[in-house]
Amino acid sequence: MKKNILKGNDLISIDQLDKNIILSIFKTADKIKKIKPKKALNILKGKVVALLFFEPSTRTFSSHCVAVKRLGGQTIEHQNPMQTSSVVKGETIEDMIKIMEQYSDAIVIRHPVAGTAQICAKTAGIPIVNAGDGIGEHPTQALLDMYTIYEKFKTLDGIKGLMVGDLLNGRTIHSLLKGLSFFKNSIIYLLSPKVLRLSKKELDEFCRRGIKLIEINNLNDIPPDLHFWYWTRVQKERFSDKNEYEKLKLSFILSKDLVDRKAGKKTLLMHPLPRVGEIKTEVDNDPRAVYLTTQAKNGMYVRMALLKMILE
Ligand code: CP
Repeated sequence: MKKNILKGNDLISIDQLDKNIILSIFKTADKIKKIKPKKALNILKGKVVALLFFEPSTRTFSSHCVAVKRLGGQTIEHQNPMQTSSVVKGETIEDMIKIMEQYSDAIVIRHPVAGTAQICAKTAGIPIVNAGDGIGEHPTQALLDMYTIYEKFKTLDGIKGLMVGDLLNGRTIHSLLKGLSFFKNSIIYLLSPKVLRLSKKELDEFCRRGIKLIEINNLNDIPPDLHFWYWTRVQKERFSDKNEYEKLKLSFILSKDLVDRKAGKKTLLMHPLPRVGEIKTEVDNDPRAVYLTTQAKNGMYVRMALLKMILE
């Protein structure tokens, strides 16, 4: 049997993984999808996972929570600890993590400051899962995004995609590009307002990793028959000038007309969500639109797989 290198380890960056580990997570997710609920309920029996969310979340919080529960484990849940935990009284994150370590077997943390998950990993003697750290990374999101593409096309080699929106601040973008770089011959078209483009450093880094990145300037430049379109929201919370945000937020809108004109028959229409107007609701019922359905649900299966592999 192959060694499970995730066992007992943190997941802070997608860069800790490689192609084989990613594919083994997908294989585990495939198996979990097929397990009858009663059987799955034994996998994390007796385990407790602490969910510490210092930033708001719908999907990442709920899917981790339900992943633990569907595997038979239990959760400690801190949403908004800046207002509801002793952090209000001045407790440091390091102290909070040390205390959570006394009560739980793993910690899933989201925090507005990039690098915080890494600090927690250094502090804790139990596995830490990064559920999004500021503009840094969102590795479990990248895994579910890649799983959704892999499930559809049965490979992640030779994938051609489009990423749109806030490429500078979008942690899902950063992790997804890193994740795709483990696979061969990806070509990714990038479309964003000028000030929200990937930095030169990031462009060079991804080029070095072997992904071909092509910046385009408008929706008419989208090439035909891409495997996926990955829309993202402009990240209001990363702007100090809210007028600037208002000017940029709806620069590129995914509409039915655009899908009809530019999407391929099999193009997956993806978004990590939340959306705030950049995908029109008229697109939701298109069979290629997976952001409210398959993509979100795969988040649960991939996180079940990950927690199983980390905690089994
Ligand atoms: N995709 C994502 O991270 O969504 P939430 O912020 O709702 O968790």
